[in-house]
Amino acid sequence: MNILRYAIIGTGMMGQEHLKNLALVRDIHDLPLSVVALIDPDEGMRQSALELARSLGNTEVQAYSQLSELSSDDVDAFIIVSPNFTHHAIITELLPLGKAILTEKPLCTKLSDCDDLQQQLEGYPAPFWVAMEYRYMPPTARFLERLASGEIGTLRMLSIREQRYPFLEKVGDWNRFSENTGGTLVEKCCHHFDLMRLMTGAEPVRVFASGGMDVNHLDESYEGRTPDIIDNALVIVDFDNGARGALELCMFADGAEPQEQLTAIGDKGKLDAYIPGPDRFWPDAGERHSRVVFSPRDQSQPQIDVIAVDPQLAAAGDHHGSTFYQHLRFAKAVLQGAAVEVTVSDGAKAVRMGAAAQESIRTGQVVEL
Ligand SMILES: NC(=O)c1ccc[n+]([C@@H]2O[C@H](COP(=O)([O-])OP(=O)(O)OC[C@H]3O[C@@H](n4cnc5c(N)ncnc54)[C@H](O)[C@@H]3O)[C@@H](O)[C@H]2O)c1
Repeated sequence: MNILRYAIIGTGMMGQEHLKNLALVRDIHDLPLSVVALIDPDEGMRQSALELARSLGNTEVQAYSQLSELSSDDVDAFIIVSPNFTHHAIITELLPLGKAILTEKPLCTKLSDCDDLQQQLEGYPAPFWVAMEYRYMPPTARFLERLASGEIGTLRMLSIREQRYPFLEKVGDWNRFSENTGGTLVEKCCHHFDLMRLMTGAEPVRVFASGGMDVNHLDESYEGRTPDIIDNALVIVDFDNGARGALELCMFADGAEPQEQLTAIGDKGKLDAYIPGPDRFWPDAGERHSRVVFSPRDQSQPQIDVIAVDPQLAAAGDHHGSTFYQHLRFAKAVLQGAAVEVTVSDGAKAVRMGAAAQESIRTGQVVEL
């Protein structure tokens, strides 16, 4: 392959973040990449993405309103960035082509669709990667590295807290209804459940959750329907190695700093990460860096790592450069045969944990996995 040719399916907010980060991967790592196709039924998003793609040096790029208008011979890798409820059908349409695919999270909105894709992907001849960008945020990556060093001993308790602004407005308001997203704990928190599996090195065995839509969206109406997406939740997860996980999500805490906090406690020490929200929501705040702090049990000084993100990576999205690092690895999987790091099974397991938490909220019962 002389040049890796991408098609981006869905060119809204996140599709345009992918476009910017692919250009950075091409320029910073001198990799032979080009975006040749943009597919989006929304004319406004299609045109703005086309202008952006051309301004980023994708000289061959064309825009289409539907996937069926595109000749697949012209594409080597598909990036799926359309709304959650479209992922299963689009992946199913693409699989017979046998090309590389990176799909945005969540893999699907329904467990049956996740199971179906796992079956369809058995023996798939090209990389299939689920976009779990949070793994690649520099503070999260450092947290994972320090966990792997063993300095906290055996991890016993893991908590993840996200306190942030409400869901943003999306094209056609698709994210206001659980049938489109899979529910907040699938849509947003699949990232956190994926991190929990990675950090504990274990699989979940039971989930209990409490949550609701208590503050946001109550006065919104879409063709007479009120949104049904929860805006706060507490989730407890037991893992098969005895570790306990807890997630706190609050989406009416716009002023919170940091936005995310990760805490892992083992028998020898405690590790925290403090991660600020996207710079664009804090335009006057000056430099805002993440910190990873190791606090040994012997009460010697905590060790503080300040994690600065290259400003051009930070400016290319809302995720601390993680989309850049993910694309670099995905491109290496396609061009050089490097391993796929986030498999269809990882994507499905994160959805399963989120769906179990949604089910626990609905029934008030513990859900065994
Ligand atoms: N990994 C992350 O951190 C992260 C962050 C934001 C969004 N996302 C994911 O990215 C996806 C898109 O989210 P967004 O925020 O960009 O939403 P968005 O509404 O801004 O953009 C979605 C775009 O997809 C288009 N679209 C709808 N149906 C389509 C179809 N069948 N084919 C092609 N395009 C279609 C819409 O017209 C729209 O332009 C979602 O799955 C979301 O969960 C991931």
